[in-house]
Amino acid sequence: MDPFEYAHKHKVVWMAQNTNLLPTTPKIKEAVIKSLDEEEYNNYPYKKGIFGLKEAILDDLGLPDFEVILTGGGTEALYIIMRAMLKDNDEVITSDPSYFIIHHFIETSKGIPTNLPIYKNPWKYTPEQINEAVNEKTKMILLIDPINPLGTGYSRDEVKAICEIANDNNLFVLNDITYRDFADNHTLTAEFAPERTIIAYSVSKNCGMAGMRTGALVAPPELMHGMRVFNTNDLSINILGQRAALAALETKNEWMPNVKKTTRNNQKIIKKCVDKTDGVFLPVYPSQANMFLIDIGERKIKPEELQNKLLYEHNIFVRAGNYVSKSFGNRFIRTSFSIPEEGVKKFADVFPRVVEELGK
Ligand SMILES: Cc1ncc(COP(=O)(O)O)c(C=O)c1O
Repeated sequence: MDPFEYAHKHKVVWMAQNTNLLPTTPKIKEAVIKSLDEEEYNNYPYKKGIFGLKEAILDDLGLPDFEVILTGGGTEALYIIMRAMLKDNDEVITSDPSYFIIHHFIETSKGIPTNLPIYKNPWKYTPEQINEAVNEKTKMILLIDPINPLGTGYSRDEVKAICEIANDNNLFVLNDITYRDFADNHTLTAEFAPERTIIAYSVSKNCGMAGMRTGALVAPPELMHGMRVFNTNDLSINILGQRAALAALETKNEWMPNVKKTTRNNQKIIKKCVDKTDGVFLPVYPSQANMFLIDIGERKIKPEELQNKLLYEHNIFVRAGNYVSKSFGNRFIRTSFSIPEEGVKKFADVFPRVVEELGK
């Protein structure tokens, strides 16, 4: 059976999609129930989004002069951006590992992702690497920060250096900040390249709202003009997701510190178990996101086999590396940990045994 079909049919410890299953705020549910009670779903929502949501997003980013298009998750924003910005053989600076659905959108839009190898120290782009890859075909730099799947974050100086490359070469910077709230420090590219920055914005992971499929495309007015043409949400996006997002953003500062704390503590539990397992290691620790990779290359275990054994024998769902890496996917699994501690403890208990069993 397909792993996702299995996982959706059974009660599993879900560590496969970087979702956030930790308590956030009851206000999200209250807002959704109120909307249902009022049968708000009978009408199309106001085209520009429910009152206050756009402002809440821009306030969260500290970018009052930017514009917002509400989208079905950050995913749809990424699709619209690529369709609007790319034409035949335009190159986009991308990495491997990465979140490949974005690369798929680049290719669908006739662009070419560069897939620069970053499965090595410092486990992220270096400005030098980007500089070397830029040529007359380059149109955009994709900066996922912190990066899925490694969990690496970029320092302010690194963001500045990358923006300088964009400014010098007339490139757009696509700042995918889906995991920003899990980082210790975060710098938006808008600080150093405001006219070139396009933001893919999501409330799926930080706010624990992946199922609501709510996100946004955020950009300065001059860039937004060309992207609006590709906005398919002429009649706005799901009203329940909008109500939930507003309730979450209005209260995020109150509960996000706790989500982050538990997430960090869960990382520690996994680190301990990885440290006591021979031939495996964490390339990035601590992760600045709610996921990281466990390298199992030395054990010569196939990641799919490890994924499947954990899932079908122990009801623990992690992701094999080939989902997020073409060149290095045979060396690791990805696991996320913004879930209740008991699930993480179960993983920590089972993982060393399963590695030993498969590694014989
Ligand atoms: C880097 C990155 N960007 C965007 C997304 C899309 O998130 P959503 O469409 O749920 O907002 C994900 C989801 O995993 C992601 O990892």
